[in-house]
This record gives sequence, structure tokens and C-alpha cells, in this order.
Amino acid sequence: MKNKPFKIGSLTLENPFILAPLAGYTDLPFRLLCREFGADLVFSEMISCHGLAYNQQKTIDMIRSCEEERPVAIQLFGAEPELMGEAAHILSREPIDIIDINMGCPVKKVTKKGAGSALMKTPELAREIITQVCENTNKPVTVKFRSGWNHQAINAPEFARMAQEAGAKAVTVHARTWSDGFSGCVDWSVIEEVKKNVTIPVIGNGDIMSYQQGLKMMEQTGCDGVMIGRAALGAPWIFRVDAPLPTPLLRLTALKRHLELIETFCNPQWALGKTRNHAGRYFKGMKHGSAIRNRIYQVATFTELQNTIDSLLSEAGSLRN
Ligand SMILES: Cc1cc2nc3c(=O)[nH]c(=O)nc-3n(C[C@H](O)[C@H](O)[C@H](O)COP(=O)(O)O)c2cc1C
Repeated sequence: MKNKPFKIGSLTLENPFILAPLAGYTDLPFRLLCREFGADLVFSEMISCHGLAYNQQKTIDMIRSCEEERPVAIQLFGAEPELMGEAAHILSREPIDIIDINMGCPVKKVTKKGAGSALMKTPELAREIITQVCENTNKPVTVKFRSGWNHQAINAPEFARMAQEAGAKAVTVHARTWSDGFSGCVDWSVIEEVKKNVTIPVIGNGDIMSYQQGLKMMEQTGCDGVMIGRAALGAPWIFRVDAPLPTPLLRLTALKRHLELIETFCNPQWALGKTRNHAGRYFKGMKHGSAIRNRIYQVATFTELQNTIDSLLSEAGSLRN
């Protein structure tokens, strides 16, 4: 099966494979890397509407983008329609392409305030939020949610219809419930039901480990696009049909580029913990990968990490997958 281009508002995606929002991971350097390796659209980490509306520096830093990463979707979370509208208004001045609303996060800190996946229990409030966001921006608005709150309350198809009526231009369904967290099986039939219930594009999500598996999800469910999260960490080449085999050379070259982007856009020493975490993931499933990871986790500075990767690159020919 071949993929087909699809549109979100006026934006056309030729390759329907998209980088998921991952808090703590999908910052500007990683999004740029995934764009360079073939993702047609990338999503930011979730951004607090409070942080934006109250002009908090940490939040302002998180919405930083650049021309090369576009198209980019910035994701907002919150449970107060007015504040979400205000945040959308602020975001609209930025050079970004889509405003996404998080209605799927299962984390207690978020759901106890009524935001994230808790909004699947309050669809009228969710509708108000989507309406407010749409009214305060000229960018296309999309919504990401789960199958439902739990297995007794699978409401993604109706929820998607509500999002469409409120003005959303596409929806993403992570086909698990809040009660599943990140375990249990992803139920593709929910994505299929959502697709039957709306006319806007539907993006399927959950446990996609390869491009081929993503194509299968599109074929079986009829979804228009596929969003990949965890499987892209340490493997930014996953978005391409002609993805090269992850040889040690590819892993190291991608990581070297990732480090260059971190150096360009962040304070690399400040981001060392996060960088080591990203770096270790490039050696998953590789022979002697754990020894390399141990070396990486022990570096004390960003420069030391760069030197370690350079020295591994010089030995790449003798490393095995
Ligand atoms: C560490 C981590 C952070 C996440 N952060 C977000 C987030 O900020 N916004 C969001 O909508 N989903 C978030 N998710 C959910 C992912 O976007 C995605 O829906 C989920 O991981 C399933 O896709 P995958 O199996 O391809 O990773 C996060 C997931 C993980 C594991």
C-alpha cells in the first residue's frame, strides 16, 4: 500500500507520518532532526496555557520555533476555555502552522485539574475549549485524544464528531483509554470508528514501531495519517518509506547531528541530562549497545559527550549492529 497526501486546513502533508508530542523530548532540536530525516509534520511538547497567558519565561522558551522545522504544530493543554483562547491568541503571532489541543494526557497532575484526558469525561467543556481556541486563531486547530476514559466509556467517535463541529481541522486518536495508561493493547477498531464518524482527517496513534506497521494501520483503519512517538526516540529515520538500515554509522551520524542541533538551539551543558537520555536511545537493540550507553551516561560535560561520539564514529566500521 502507498501513502496518500492529506490536508489539515490549507497545509498539505505529502508524507502522512508525523512526530508525536512527547513532553521532555520533542523540543526544537529533536523536531528539527525528525524533519531532516523525513517527518512531514512535527508536534511540540504540551505547553501550558497558564504559562503562555502569564508570560512565564520557561513556557515562552518552549514555544521557540524556526523556519526550517515548519510545518510545526504547537500543542496546548489546559481546562479553562478563556485561558486556552488567550493562549491561542498569543501563539497565533508565532511562525507556527497548527495549534493542537491536548485532550489525551493521562498524567494525574494534568487530569486532576480537568485537563488532558479528563476532558473526555466533560465533552461540553471540551467543546467550549475547542471553540474558544478556534475563535482566537487563524491557524488550523487539531485535537489529540484517547479512545475514552475507560473501557466502559469508549467515546472517541462521538468526541471526534464534537471536535469537528467545534471547528477542529483534524483529530489524532491514541487508541488506548485513560485507564490503560501506556499499557494494554492499542485498539485499531476505535480509529476505524472515528474515521467513519467524521469528514476531517484522522491521524492514528499508538505503538507504531515501523513505517510498514504505520501503512498497515492506515490500510486497516482508513486513517489518513500516522503519528509516531516513542519509536522515533533514537530513531528519527523511522518516518521514511526508504529508511536506511540502522547501522552503527547511521545511529552515530544521526546522534552527531542531534548534538549539533542541541548546541545550536539550547544551552548544551544545561541540557546535559536530557541529552544523555536521548543519546543512549540511539544504541537500543545494537550489539554492545549497553556498553556504549554506559559510557554515555558517565560523561560529565557536553563536550565530553561530543568527543565520545566522535571517537565511536571513527571506529564505526568495526562496530556491529
Ligand atoms: C514521555 C512521553 C511524553 C508524552 N507527552 C505527550 C504530550 O506532551 N502531549 C500528548 O498529546 N501526548 C504525549 N504523550 C503521548 C504520545 O504523544 C503518544 O500518544 C503515545 O506515546 C502513544 O504513541 P507511541 O506508542 O507512538 O509512543 C507522551 C508520551 C510519552 C511516552
